[in-house]
Amino acid sequence: MNGFFVSFEGPDGSGKSTVLRRVLTQLASEIRPPYLVTREPGGSEIAEAIRQVILDPDYVAMTARTEALLYAAARSQHLTEIVRPALKAGKLVISDRYLDSSLAYQGAGRGLGVDAVEAINQFATAGLLPDLTILLDLKPQVGLARIQKLRPQAEDRMEQEQLAFHQRVYQGYQQLAQRDSQRIKVVDASQPIEVVTQTVIQILRRNLPTLFKD
Ligand code: TYD
Repeated sequence: MNGFFVSFEGPDGSGKSTVLRRVLTQLASEIRPPYLVTREPGGSEIAEAIRQVILDPDYVAMTARTEALLYAAARSQHLTEIVRPALKAGKLVISDRYLDSSLAYQGAGRGLGVDAVEAINQFATAGLLPDLTILLDLKPQVGLARIQKLRPQAEDRMEQEQLAFHQRVYQGYQQLAQRDSQRIKVVDASQPIEVVTQTVIQILRRNLPTLFKD
């Protein structure tokens, strides 16, 4: 495949979606190939429908295994319908979350184990990994406090989890970053948003120089 695949990762409240938006505004004039922004869980009609089921706060009885399989199912559909065709067409694909979210949230957070979650995702993705992953690094206490301040009511099923769960997710991400430091670049997300944005752009420039016009 000819395109480039970049994923953004981070704990809830890390500012991932805001940083992503700001990075894109700047990138639009600086990069060569056409790009596509997408998200997980979701990104295609069927995957968005699966997202509704996964995040519904009423589904308190959902087991960890069902949850992991649904994330993997949404991912498989999203890859086949959206990501692979775009990469084949030479585009830059930027995904708000991808595989590492499952390894951190279901593998570490839910305690299913990174190996087990990796195995079902191998089936779902046929092993497709991003060329580069940006991990926004923020302590769960800070992230959860941000969320509560922003929207005290509208929490989804994952955000409603206790601090201990989010701490395991955080540790999970740290271990993934250590294991795969070539692909996963860690950015301190406690800095001001503009500093975080510029740091991400620098990382993209350094690691994917052929994307940029100059
Ligand atoms: P997202 O829409 O990125 O929420 P936010 O913008 O608030 O970070 O993701 C929804 C939730 O789904 C989030 O809590 C992380 C979780 N998630 C998993 O647990 N496993 C996964 O594989 C993915 C993609 C997301």
